[in-house]
Amino acid sequence: MKILVINGPNLNMLGVREPGVYGKGTYAELCDMIRSYCEKRGVEVAFFQSNHEGAIVDEIQKGYGVYDGIVINPAAYTHTSVAILDALKAVSIPAVEVHISDVSKREDFRQISYIRSYCVKTVAGKGFEGYLEAVDALCEALS
Ligand code: DQA
Repeated sequence: MKILVINGPNLNMLGVREPGVYGKGTYAELCDMIRSYCEKRGVEVAFFQSNHEGAIVDEIQKGYGVYDGIVINPAAYTHTSVAILDALKAVSIPAVEVHISDVSKREDFRQISYIRSYCVKTVAGKGFEGYLEAVDALCEALS
């Protein structure tokens, strides 16, 4: 099984960005944690982070025929991007939505997720661990 972990805008700033909300761990530490978890589970994993909506759409499209599943935290684009939803629908790769923070307890504008209806599961408010739960959910969905 081969999966792609996509992180959207400002997640490259983890560790610096609002540590009270997103924690002190860096993006590199997040990737290391997911990589070693996937290694243990025998899952092949690749990572992509971008601050640009179109770049995320391009990467999802490139994933067609390459990946079995996608773990995606679209960050702010969660709440605005029909294009990312359409890209996921276009490639039809099973996906799990992740948010580090508990978006359900935050501002009204964070209550909308365009990709939620497409995703097999949403994990939110569990910090970096949420990505590992998302890997498990994908493994289950794909088994
Ligand atoms: C986030 C939540 C979003 O509302 C926010 O714009 C982010 C990160 C999260 O992981 O908690 O950038 O997706």
